[in-house]
Amino acid sequence: MAMTTPHIRLGVNLDHVATIRNARGEGHPSLADAVDLALEAGADGITMHLREDRRHILDADLEETAARLADTNTPLNMEMAVTEEMVAIATRLRPPWTCLVPERRAELTTEQGLQVTTALSAACARLAAADIKISLFIDADPAALEMASQLGVNAVEIHTGPWCRAFAADGDGSPREQDEWHKIVAAAEHCAAHDLGFHAGHGLHYDTARKIAGIKGLAEVNIGHFLVGEAIFYGLGEAIRRMRTALDEGAR
Ligand code: PXP
Repeated sequence: MAMTTPHIRLGVNLDHVATIRNARGEGHPSLADAVDLALEAGADGITMHLREDRRHILDADLEETAARLADTNTPLNMEMAVTEEMVAIATRLRPPWTCLVPERRAELTTEQGLQVTTALSAACARLAAADIKISLFIDADPAALEMASQLGVNAVEIHTGPWCRAFAADGDGSPREQDEWHKIVAAAEHCAAHDLGFHAGHGLHYDTARKIAGIKGLAEVNIGHFLVGEAIFYGLGEAIRRMRTALDEGAR
């Protein structure tokens, strides 16, 4: 019987389109146009991180994108810190997915996975009651995975940053890369055994996306900075198409 290639969902994170727009405080490049272009190019979802300091995505961006995507079958994945303010915004806008992340004001980007404790249960219950699916952005760490299973969330997004850094600095197959890689493979095995969705994101480029796509059970990747960087050279649509090809090659 012919095997079908799994379709790994590609969530395109457009935060840095807003970063460039905000550098001038005006309307160009338009985030709405970037959303449309990403969808045309084959994004399976749009991811936006409404940070507490609003350094890139603004409240109006999230509201407009939620309304735009509600007319299509494309999920909005709202990345957010676990704060009262963010939970209130999410339960009002009801994006199909939220990804709960840790946030520190001084960081350049999300630096590490969430500390998963029972303190998250109340926020998770409110989001779930609003019919919002939840993923937790966590390190590939057995204790965090165990807590995530106990919380009953839909998925975890494994922080691929440490692996991607090892891949870039020491090379594919190097001891450090292999060490980080095996943690991700073990996380995938935990997810498969506990009926937990397995997502991945942070720092991915074509080669790392191609490699991680080979892990059985990977349902979704979320990729932003690299795609917006590539857009400078090839355009956003072409960068997304190349990423789609890399994922499909790796999933075969
Ligand atoms: N997933 C999460 C939870 C993130 O915080 C980020 C960064 O905003 C990404 C994915 C995308 O990472 P990158 O921009 O490095 O592709």
